[in-house]
Amino acid sequence: MNTDVFNQLSSLVRERSGLVLTPDKGYLLESRLLPVARKWAQKSVDELSALLRSKPDPKLIRDIVEAMTTNESFFFRDIKPFDQFKSLVLPHLLKKRAAAKSIRIWSAACSSGQEPYSLAMILNEHKLQLSGWKVEIIATDLSTEILDKARAGQYSQFEVQRGLPIQLLVKYFKQEGDRWQIDAAIRSMVAFRPFNLLEDLGSLGRFDVIFCRNVLIYFDQPTKAKVLDGMSRQLAPDGHLYLGGAETVLGITDKLQPLPEHRGIYVQATPAAVPARAAAG
Ligand SMILES: C[S@@+](CC[C@H](N)C(=O)[O-])C[C@H]1O[C@@H](n2cnc3c(N)ncnc32)[C@H](O)[C@@H]1O
Repeated sequence: MNTDVFNQLSSLVRERSGLVLTPDKGYLLESRLLPVARKWAQKSVDELSALLRSKPDPKLIRDIVEAMTTNESFFFRDIKPFDQFKSLVLPHLLKKRAAAKSIRIWSAACSSGQEPYSLAMILNEHKLQLSGWKVEIIATDLSTEILDKARAGQYSQFEVQRGLPIQLLVKYFKQEGDRWQIDAAIRSMVAFRPFNLLEDLGSLGRFDVIFCRNVLIYFDQPTKAKVLDGMSRQLAPDGHLYLGGAETVLGITDKLQPLPEHRGIYVQATPAAVPARAAAG
């Protein structure tokens, strides 16, 4: 692949998704886009690039951008954030939302669904306390293909062996051939929607909890700042934002701050966030 082709394709991907491909990622572009080239009846990525120049079909653009997303995910990823959700954030919400009886959670960049389904299983384990409550889990991703997989709620043996405790596997999954199907009740707790984090986040409404894990790492600093500022606007004054282990708000935005002693959780950088911090103590 020559420099022009690399520049054309990497600029398109960055402009449409925020994903940054540095020049050393030529091999990645080539290997991920070769199947797209074949799908579009082209012999090589160079031919795909020429097709894009002559006929920038929106479906072709979508295929190219989606092929460059990394969809790695697993149930209860890194464990600790989910333990903290159970022991810190959920008790906080049960107390502070007792009058409204409503909780809104957003799994931004949910990939194949393991993150929102992990949250749904935790919430289902507290269904007696949440009886009569309106609990919404909105799960979004840029990739429509990965959202189809998420909605189906079917996982391979390998996928259910990664992070999912055996008792939850037995309780919430049924084996169908070589796949494991998640329980219909858990599936129905999650609303999956396509959504690009580069868009205005305002249309999604206000959230008590946002999980935005392992996606900002792929963005440049200005894009990270724009997304985090947007998330701060959509997060309740006492809300909690979860980022991935390699992600932070520090040096990127002053609208959010880490929750002391709870790595990976961020709160509003305003006095309104104090009750949440006190609850953590
Ligand atoms: C590595 S997965 C993270 C999944 C999950 N949050 C986790 O931590 O396991 C990253 C996801 O971000 C999505 N993504 C990438 N760019 C995006 C964008 N601009 N808007 C929304 N989702 C995006 C990808 O499609 C991919 O599914």
